[in-house]
Amino acid sequence: MSERVFALIAGSGFENGWLPGMSEAALPREMPFGAPASPVLEGRIGDHRVLFLQRHGENHRYPPHAIPYAANLWALREAGATDVFAVGTVGAVSEALPPGAICIPDDLVDRTWGRQSTFYTGPETGVQHVDFTHPFSEGLRQELIKAALAAEVPVMDGGVYWCTQGPRLETAAEVRVVSQLGGAMIGMTACPEAAVAREAGLRYALLGLSVNWAAGISDSKESIDFESIKESMERMTAGVREIIRTAVLS
Ligand code: HPA
Repeated sequence: MSERVFALIAGSGFENGWLPGMSEAALPREMPFGAPASPVLEGRIGDHRVLFLQRHGENHRYPPHAIPYAANLWALREAGATDVFAVGTVGAVSEALPPGAICIPDDLVDRTWGRQSTFYTGPETGVQHVDFTHPFSEGLRQELIKAALAAEVPVMDGGVYWCTQGPRLETAAEVRVVSQLGGAMIGMTACPEAAVAREAGLRYALLGLSVNWAAGISDSKESIDFESIKESMERMTAGVREIIRTAVLS
């Protein structure tokens, strides 16, 4: 049986890396979508080889709409990844997901446009319509939920991730629409990342970090406070590291 290689695609909260002593993974000099946003790093958790990529690149230089999604997923597959844990911040729409909470969504709605969103750009690549009924790998999701339980880090199981274009945050009216249509959280990067991972044949699940109430949701109706976003990030990142470590080792 071929061994699983877990890759972490991280965003905010992992600016200082993941594991100590990671080194750069070997990649082909030329890849069809060019270089990934950051070097792909490799390291070990126990006996397992793991990979790490910073979605926004070093110094957070790619905004969500400009991330080289296809290049990122292509590079991870070239480096041997079989499974992807994606970590991203979200604004909470559901009351069940207060800032500071971690969620593992089970579906998504893609409201992005104009992004590097497929390996099948045509005509020379041919055409492929991957099944995307369930955008997140249910197997991998369950592994994360089990790991969270074992690591005693509370997570919300399920919820629809609504992916907006950004980089601006939403208006209160936009968030009301998302809420009425069943969205539980809003983020800017799971699309097209999840779809390209599917095209790459990689299992993909997402850990969403609730860092704020989406616009207009909190009772106070105050504008979003970026200082408090930073503080809850640090707490949640520690929980996420523990969940992933437990999942890889189990
Ligand atoms: N909206 C979209 N993406 C986000 C938010 C938000 O409120 N918070 C963190 N990522």
